[in-house]
Amino acid sequence: MSKPLEGIKIIDFTHVQAGPACTQMLAWFGADVIKVERPGSGDVTRSQLRDIKDADALYFTMLNSNKRSITLDTKTAQGKEVLTKLIKEADVLVENFGPGALDRMGFSWAHINELNPGMIVASVKGFSDGHHYEDLKVYENVAQCAGGAASTTGWWDGPPTVSAAALGDSNTGMHLAIGILTAIIGRQKTGKGQKVAVSMQDAVLNLCRVKMRDQQRLDRVGYLEEYPQYPHGEFTDVVPRGGNAGGGGQPGWVLKCKGWETDPNAYIYFTIQGHAWAPICKALGKEEWINDPAYNTAEARQDKIFDIFAFIEDWLKDKTKYEAVDILRKFDIPCAPVLSMKELAECPSLRKSGSIVEVEHKQRGTYLTVGSPIKFSDLKVEITGSPLLGEHTDEILAQLGYTPEQIAEMHAAKAV
Ligand code: COA
Repeated sequence: MSKPLEGIKIIDFTHVQAGPACTQMLAWFGADVIKVERPGSGDVTRSQLRDIKDADALYFTMLNSNKRSITLDTKTAQGKEVLTKLIKEADVLVENFGPGALDRMGFSWAHINELNPGMIVASVKGFSDGHHYEDLKVYENVAQCAGGAASTTGWWDGPPTVSAAALGDSNTGMHLAIGILTAIIGRQKTGKGQKVAVSMQDAVLNLCRVKMRDQQRLDRVGYLEEYPQYPHGEFTDVVPRGGNAGGGGQPGWVLKCKGWETDPNAYIYFTIQGHAWAPICKALGKEEWINDPAYNTAEARQDKIFDIFAFIEDWLKDKTKYEAVDILRKFDIPCAPVLSMKELAECPSLRKSGSIVEVEHKQRGTYLTVGSPIKFSDLKVEITGSPLLGEHTDEILAQLGYTPEQIAEMHAAKAV
């Protein structure tokens, strides 16, 4: 089966997570992704948080599948020459170096554009161009703090809290992938490449859109009715942390199930959808609440929402999270068990859909990775193991027209 991005050649000058997550996804969809790494060490994640001595760490293997790897010291004359050749024949260059690194290497946007006017240069930085923090280097949690996620996550009486989800890293990579595909379609119309940039702060902020909604509501009316602070607590002039409250019009909360005393994940998320009030009452055996004016509208329930959650927790105390969801699903109530990473890794449905995949790796044997969350009717995403450091150096150099003697010379000079 031919893949939609087959024929697109990508120079993958990325490292750590944000850039690699983007290029990995494009590789899954058929692009020829050539990962350019520093000779000897490569992407720092190859050796970070290792679980097997001397083997590429999972941090690397789970973000670099389906790619080829070439080692290249792009600060040497030979390395620059190879990169120049690659630029002339590639479609996209993706990078997430610290600010200014590509320019210092001698590959400014203007120079790349001159070498290949069709080239799309896609970058991740911590902050956008011209931002007063544009010179800062940024990692995941820094971005979560700068993008509004940390100030709005956690408990109202605790400190700002970061999410386990990679809102700064992988999320920025996904935004960049959308930008690259858009620029590729744009180039089909104009023949011209362009610069595509996503800042981690902006990508986090984009996912915190509803919190910006809340800031404006708060400015106007002074309270936010879906937050636990309403109606009994106090609001200041900034969006507070809302614990596990639902962010939309439906109140929800994480509720304890049987076994919570010993199992840290024996919980479900329960949502009180307005129009599902009658089914909820039926599921809980509390039919007298259905038409009781003290309960039968969202407004009436507001000041006793935590009493209602306490009642549901009492109902849940002799049910496991799975038993509870099996009952509640029959009543069409939006809910789910809180799942651990172990449960997700072992989930038969995720294995069947390709969302959790077992992959072969030359050093590691098999390992689990998270597969494509995007499913297509005409594309089966096949995940292959990540490349070893420089595994494809000679192959790529030969494809660029270098002779075996020239390649040997580059190895001897440690340019590759
Ligand atoms: N050959 C020669 N030099 C290379 C090279 C190669 N193949 N690959 C990288 N380098 C050089 C760079 O040119 C840079 O040189 P210079 O700063 O001396 O000019 C140097 O390696 C360091 O690169 P840098 O990206 O600044 O690494 P770092 O480890 O200091 O910083 C980050 C790491 C992630 C903080 C930084 O890259 C960053 O802020 N990136 C943008 C935001 C981002 O993506 N954050 C991480 C998301 S997971």
